[in-house]
Amino acid sequence: MSAKDKLVIFDTTLRDGEQSPGASMTKEEKLRIARVLEKMRVDVIEAGFAIASPGDFGAVQAIANTVKDSRICSLSRALDKDIDRAAEALKGANASRIHTFIATSPIHMKYKLQMEPDAVIEQAVRAVKRARSHTDDVEFSCEDAGRSEIDFLCRIIEAAIDAGASTINIPDTVGYAIPEQYGNTIGQLIQRIPNSDKAIFSVHCHNDLGLAVANSLSAVAQGARQVECTINGLGERAGNASLEEVVMAVRTRSDLFDVETGIDTTQIVPASKLVSSITGFPVQPNKAIVGANAFAHESGIHQDGVLKHRETYEIMQAEAVGWHTNSLVLGKLSGRNAFRTRLEELGIALESESELNAAFAAFKELADKKHEIFDEDLHALVSDSVSKPKEEKYELVCMSVASETGVRPVSKVTLKIDGEEVSAESEGGGPVDATYSAIEKLAQSGINLQLYSVNNITSGTDSQGEVTVRVERGGRIVNGLGADTDIVIASAKAYINALNLMESADERQHPQGDV
Ligand code: KIV
Ligand code: ZN
Repeated sequence: MSAKDKLVIFDTTLRDGEQSPGASMTKEEKLRIARVLEKMRVDVIEAGFAIASPGDFGAVQAIANTVKDSRICSLSRALDKDIDRAAEALKGANASRIHTFIATSPIHMKYKLQMEPDAVIEQAVRAVKRARSHTDDVEFSCEDAGRSEIDFLCRIIEAAIDAGASTINIPDTVGYAIPEQYGNTIGQLIQRIPNSDKAIFSVHCHNDLGLAVANSLSAVAQGARQVECTINGLGERAGNASLEEVVMAVRTRSDLFDVETGIDTTQIVPASKLVSSITGFPVQPNKAIVGANAFAHESGIHQDGVLKHRETYEIMQAEAVGWHTNSLVLGKLSGRNAFRTRLEELGIALESESELNAAFAAFKELADKKHEIFDEDLHALVSDSVSKPKEEKYELVCMSVASETGVRPVSKVTLKIDGEEVSAESEGGGPVDATYSAIEKLAQSGINLQLYSVNNITSGTDSQGEVTVRVERGGRIVNGLGADTDIVIASAKAYINALNLMESADERQHPQGDV
């Protein structure tokens, strides 16, 4: 038995992470991420904000019905209708949590809520009680606690605990805190609030000053026992505290922290890659833990040291966070069963036989071009095939690109639009530009390209390129994905995927679109 306290890891990639502009995800994508979080043994998964949109409700419900080993949580304002909607979405969960919040800083209470502090306390108490009528596990957050007065925080938190909240979250909503000061605030709250022993104190830090992880760790040192965080630090504005950094800091410096997490750290890199591939947000190479260079030693002196004795320059093992676990899994001769089994092992559940057939056909095609198929390839392949809407208006039939030094590239594209084959040719500044211009000649969609990003999925020149495009039309934004060993074809696939998603009703909703 360990003498250390448990540090609860509360992942909010699917809720606060999705609030990153352009990071909205479909239900299917959220489910895939939730399954990996469950495999990672995340304690609480905040699956969404059920009342925000029908899409968010559906995602929370699907995750609650599917994920059984993690507690599933929905956010709600301190309003009856929000709380009831959260409870409805969470009905199928093995273990559920309602997370209700209200702002507590003078600036938010005066200008946003236009409420007196006493009325805010009253509403918080009512909300916690309402949430407790649905579930035993209620979390209460003091929004903008980082700029709230400590005396007021003490009053509202004491009342929320009395009303039945078992987790009290102290968000630094605008990323204003500094580690020592924030840690002291947490320590003081725990000391001063008479019933603080009846709740777990949680922290939720934003990264506007680049201090989200440092602030979270400082709070843990002062008694916080839950950290809210996201994969790759995704989140509103500059993001949230990154899960991988918090978890690995606590583990690597176990000499300093009296806590331990239950996280299976080998799932960190696969989760990071999955989130990056789904959102199209690349991970910077020098990002701690999950960046491509996080364990790469460039200087000769460092390389020499590591070869002689790894710990000279390494404080963690790459394998411990899931690097190099992308062992060769399947090849050209692998059958449908092996393919299905590996997908299941990766937590990828395809909804129907026809989805499995489509993914298997794409796998065989890929295996012809690329001999070694890694887990990352399978994730990309499935993203590629399941991100397609049910009805596709546009289909790529074939394309060719001529690219030569000193000559403007020309792309010829043949599409099927509503079943009818049409072709066009166009020049461009580069092969991708020429291809997009040829597609637009045919589609005349009027969409605006907001982001184009290409990543190699595994290493090596035969790696698949995975392209994400974000396009906008009339205020609606969709992300298109495409993967192929040829990056110009991957680019065309991503653009066509975005065109189809733009046409489909199966849209990605912005999480807080209508609240
Ligand atoms: O940053 C914040 O305050 C939040 C709350 C809703 C917990 O995300
Ligand atoms: Zn937040």
